[in-house]
Amino acid sequence: MDSIKIIGGSPLKGKIEIGGAKNAALPLMAAALLTDEQFSLSNVPTLSDITTMANLLVSLGVEFIVDGSVRNGGYNGSGTGRSLILKADNITDTTAHYDIVRKMRASVIVLGPLLARFGKARVSLPGGCAIGTRPIDLHIMAMEKMGAKIKLRDGYIEAGVKGRLKGAEITFPIISVGATENALLAATLAEGKTVIKNAALEPEVSDLAMCLKEMGADIKGIGTKKLVINGVEKLNGVNHKVLPDRIEAGTFAIAAAITGGELELLGANAETMEATIEALRKTGAKIEETEKGIKVVAGEKIRPINIDTSPYPGYATDMQAQLSALLCLAEGTSTIKENIFENRFMHVPELTRMGAKIKLSGNKMKINGIEKLHGATVMATDLRASVSLVLAALAAEGETIINRVYHIDRGYERIEEKLAACGAKIVRLRDKN
Ligand code: UD1
Repeated sequence: MDSIKIIGGSPLKGKIEIGGAKNAALPLMAAALLTDEQFSLSNVPTLSDITTMANLLVSLGVEFIVDGSVRNGGYNGSGTGRSLILKADNITDTTAHYDIVRKMRASVIVLGPLLARFGKARVSLPGGCAIGTRPIDLHIMAMEKMGAKIKLRDGYIEAGVKGRLKGAEITFPIISVGATENALLAATLAEGKTVIKNAALEPEVSDLAMCLKEMGADIKGIGTKKLVINGVEKLNGVNHKVLPDRIEAGTFAIAAAITGGELELLGANAETMEATIEALRKTGAKIEETEKGIKVVAGEKIRPINIDTSPYPGYATDMQAQLSALLCLAEGTSTIKENIFENRFMHVPELTRMGAKIKLSGNKMKINGIEKLHGATVMATDLRASVSLVLAALAAEGETIINRVYHIDRGYERIEEKLAACGAKIVRLRDKN
């Protein structure tokens, strides 16, 4: 397994290109299952989660073309990955096998499209997850409301429907990004009208809805809590551009703030990042929109703040670990309350090993700011926790080795290259095995 070595203390200066959003690209790729026509996506980030989704789709029989060449033997992540063509005109299997699903929970997103177009789907249960129990009951509830019969057998969700799914009223008791997307995907080809209430408002949900509309779906209420979908019989091919990754942009914004640096984030969309921008401004960072994205200039000092994570447009749980790293160096005491995933604190013991003063109680963190973090050997077991260690290491005194880098590769494209180009002392130590 690769590691990353960082020698901290260099203020980052320069420009970083922001990639397409992973969390938009994954459900968009699943939308390819809804049509037998050519489905093209551009601005797709080159990430291992994208490879996993590509491999899942290929295992179902989807023809997968990247940078002009067919990759039906699977996708190894090579090529730029910016433009993908998917063609689901010859689906040979409707089972999402455990081997792939266990690598990425988001694989469950194929449930809705498979059921809607083929009337059946077998999707492995994702199994354990590092950031809490993360059930999928809401995905199942939505499919059942639309008339699917669902059994859980041998570790698989087995779903089937006679004829087409039926439009239904689906009210989510809590906000779920994935369940909203699954319901939306399924409803586009269902018979009649579906109303999704308490829908997630995340920009990635709207990006998916916009793409489905371009494919001929009838969707109203995009960007609101109530989505109304009138099912159609067939969807067309599309050529859609994935929206920029607000979490990648937010992470690099914190990289500027924590190192006392100055970064322009090219392609970042400030509109989708309001909560992050507001939080960072409160800590003292200066952020302005530029013609090409946003510019972040570190403040003189880092001020402590109190933040609660919540669904969009609130402060994102996916930006919680990165903010914790920044607040370790604030002048005073900060608090963070994690309201989405009860167990999303894997970065805390690792940050503590770097000298941070964090007290964890239930879903609340109390962070007493210190003057300096120091380098250490650390590792984390989820994507955002791992990247928070990169941020801490960039600001820390001395050398940090971050192990289990594969978590970072799931969500950050060429992270060491992007940071090194702005002055970070960072190298990837390749595993020779
Ligand atoms: C998505 C994002 C993830 C982000 C999360 C919350 C993708 C690929 N991943 O994950 O990066 O951290 O949104 O913004 O887009 N829940 C249930 N039952 C369900 C589904 C969810 O109880 O059937 C709960 C979860 O345990 C959690 C909350 O709902 O407490 C929100 O989770 P959800 O929005 O579904 O997260 P994901 O879609 O898995």
